[in-house]
Amino acid sequence: MSLASQIAEAADIVTVALDELLPRGEGPEQRLTEAMRYAALGPGKRLRPFFALETGRMFDIEERPVLRAACALECIHAYSLVHDDLPAMDDDDMRRGRPTVHRQYDEATAILVGDALQTAAFEIMAHPDTHPDAGIRVELIRKLAVASGAQGMAGGQMIDLLGVRDDLGAVARMQRLKTGALIAYAFEIPLAMAHAQDSERSALMAFAQDLGLAYQIVDDLLDVDGDPTALGKAAGGKDAVKGKTNYVTLLGVDAARERVAHLAEQTRSHLDLFGKRAETLRASVDFVLDRRS
Ligand code: IPE
Ligand code: IPE
Ligand code: MG
Ligand code: MG
Ligand code: MG
Repeated sequence: MSLASQIAEAADIVTVALDELLPRGEGPEQRLTEAMRYAALGPGKRLRPFFALETGRMFDIEERPVLRAACALECIHAYSLVHDDLPAMDDDDMRRGRPTVHRQYDEATAILVGDALQTAAFEIMAHPDTHPDAGIRVELIRKLAVASGAQGMAGGQMIDLLGVRDDLGAVARMQRLKTGALIAYAFEIPLAMAHAQDSERSALMAFAQDLGLAYQIVDDLLDVDGDPTALGKAAGGKDAVKGKTNYVTLLGVDAARERVAHLAEQTRSHLDLFGKRAETLRASVDFVLDRRS
């Protein structure tokens, strides 16, 4: 099977599982559950869940627990996008090729969708079906909280909104928090469930860190030269107009591209330890960084 088909197949599995896990609701609150489903079940790439599932396969662990935890992670990611698009943040009208949640519904609903997707994630993680070992569940819940909160995604979003000075180190730190933390969590899921060795943990964390940084630089490049239709969201240099600081605004397009190429090589090299077992993960680096959508 080609890598593209493998990624597409994982995305389908995740969407089906999310559809089952998300509440449907009855009565007036149905507006909220409908909007949650609109946000989470829309055509996202599901790359974080793909990384969790593929790494789980590499460690030969059962798919079901990884899939449930990966769905929880995707709920947090979907919530982060709903809030990221709000007028008070990036003020975007399109996401995944459709109107953003506050455009399709309204702002208050979009805020509640974020709130409820976030708590849905923790509800899924805490459920015994996610893992029979409560110790592993608690460890994963704590790590998900850290990756999502002030020391993770939300903290990175704060730095993004405040704007960082012309300092690549500060930008790298922002990217590590706002994007890297949730990407790294995709690897925490199988690592916790597989009782992996320290060397395997370090290698995968280094892999996730470089990948997360490269992923956000690619996103920032696509903001400049991407096709809004293929991306399903606005482009045309919107970040620069909004006064954002990132690798592209600091270094320019060509140097940012070179940085991605260098990071891609470095990212792949962290997998040497796993040999042939990491073939799919290794190949997915270029696939993910060459994306146009
Ligand atoms: C978009 O994430 C926001 C970033 C962190 C760059 P994705 O590019 O993974 O978006 P979806 O989930 O496929 O829509
Ligand atoms: C968003 O970064 C990162 C999140 C934590 C949601 P961006 O603001 O660049 O993501 P897009 O371009 O809107 O998808
Ligand atoms: Mg943003
Ligand atoms: Mg945005
Ligand atoms: Mg962006």
